[in-house]
Amino acid sequence: MTETENILTDTFGREHTYLRISLTERCNLRCTYCMPAGGIPLSPKSHIMTYEEIFTIAKEFVSHGVTKIRLTGGEPLVRKDVGLILEKLASLNVELAITTNGVIVDTFIEQFKRIGLQKINVSLDSLDNEKNTTITRRDYFTKVYNNIQLLVKEGFEVKVNCVLIKGFNENEIVDFIELTKTQPLQIRFIEFMPFDGNKWNLDKLVSLEEVLKEVCSHYDVKQFTRLKDAPNDTAKNYKIKDYKGSFAVISSVTNPFCDSCNRIRLTANGQLKNCLFSSSESDLLTPLREGKSIAPVIQKAILAKKKVRNGMETLEQFKDPDSHNNRSMIAIGG
Ligand code: 5AD
Ligand code: SF4
Repeated sequence: MTETENILTDTFGREHTYLRISLTERCNLRCTYCMPAGGIPLSPKSHIMTYEEIFTIAKEFVSHGVTKIRLTGGEPLVRKDVGLILEKLASLNVELAITTNGVIVDTFIEQFKRIGLQKINVSLDSLDNEKNTTITRRDYFTKVYNNIQLLVKEGFEVKVNCVLIKGFNENEIVDFIELTKTQPLQIRFIEFMPFDGNKWNLDKLVSLEEVLKEVCSHYDVKQFTRLKDAPNDTAKNYKIKDYKGSFAVISSVTNPFCDSCNRIRLTANGQLKNCLFSSSESDLLTPLREGKSIAPVIQKAILAKKKVRNGMETLEQFKDPDSHNNRSMIAIGG
């Protein structure tokens, strides 16, 4: 097969080599920016991919050129057979990574080491116990904070995801960066994005520009440098001189990075999303269960991918609630 025939290459020449698989719609936290207060209606269990189905679909993607798989959720580690899924996926020739809320991640350290899973992203939006309880609607700050330290100590490559919300945590930007002084962590400040039921509006957004302004008002310009971004990186990376770690901003709202997008997402109920913001999905699970080939469905979904954020090219379009017809983040998987 020539490169242009690859089913994972879209009409803009982007090669989709990075698959994010959501293992479950469930979570042991209730972050306000991720899901509505009342939770979301869960798919019936029979509609959720089994571990064998996850493995079969992943194998198909790997055969077409996927080189990296990230497990997401909900919270991927609350799925009962996650250990089995990790073992199966580790047998494929891919780089494995996981995004977790960090609440029970300590119980997986030995397995991660054994299967060679190195990259762990942990969500933490405030360094203040009470504020954390407010945003996650659960009281696990100490546990998560200690688990982040533990993962670093155990030698994992740890990134901390911090969703910035105006009036809530933007006054903690420097405190988060100071964590990188002694620890080889990467702090990733994420612009708050609109999803179903999360009460988004532009006034709550803390932009890339505002983050940099805050950094410049605290640190000497000579002290901080922009790092070279990795290919396909969604984050703009920075470092304070002589600090062990680094920080980054993910500016999906004010500076989308769609040009270099190499990601596709599979929801826990087996639907392929060609973009985080796409309103339509492609069902892989039904044809798989009917014994049909899923390759044509994958190819069709990739070819339908829009150039920028599911067609919302400008901030004006992005702001318009009518342009968004999507799931809650909890049901997409980040
Ligand atoms: N805006 C930005 N980031 C979000 N995440 C979840 N919901 C949102 C949102 N509305 C991020 C969290 C989590 C990851 C899976 O997705 O930081 O770490
Ligand atoms: Fe759970 Fe992550 Fe959503 Fe928080 S952001 S509710 S930890 S899935």
